[in-house]
Amino acid sequence: MEIPRSGPIYICIMALRTILHYPDPRLRQVAKPVPVVDDTVRQLVDDMAETMYAAPGIGLAAIQIDIPMRVVVIDISETRDQLQIFINPEITRQDGKQVFEEGCLSVPGIYDEVERARHVRVKALDRHGVPFEIEADGLFATCIQHEIDHLNGKVFVDHLSRLKQSRIRKKIEKQERLAM
Ligand code: NI
Repeated sequence: MEIPRSGPIYICIMALRTILHYPDPRLRQVAKPVPVVDDTVRQLVDDMAETMYAAPGIGLAAIQIDIPMRVVVIDISETRDQLQIFINPEITRQDGKQVFEEGCLSVPGIYDEVERARHVRVKALDRHGVPFEIEADGLFATCIQHEIDHLNGKVFVDHLSRLKQSRIRKKIEKQERLAM
């Protein structure tokens, strides 16, 4: 018998995870700090990156795939090959103001303007548990603040008016009903 051609080709290390959608209450959990950066955490980071690239998105927090740990992946590059990993990220300094139109993989199809700090300094651990600190401004600064919000149980629509929030909730719930 012939070896089925589909055999070894299907070996695949990537694992796409399901992204929770607003207003899922699990998005409201406050994520816990990662106590030690081990292989389990690195596997989580890899799965998050695959999930983010496949979506496609420019940032993803672990809580969005229902893992309440303080882990974020970001890639704002146009070439999609500049993955940045933030474990236990903390904003240590921020200044200025800027407004960007934001979207979120957990709030599909919704985009609106949010005001945030223009410049941030962030400290975090990398995929080997080594501490680092970076400065960010522009879209990168907004993206980091958006993802750290997720770790604290916040979604970008929380920055919008109550009226907009209730419209968005209804729109998403309708979309989900139609998709079922
Ligand atoms: Ni988001």
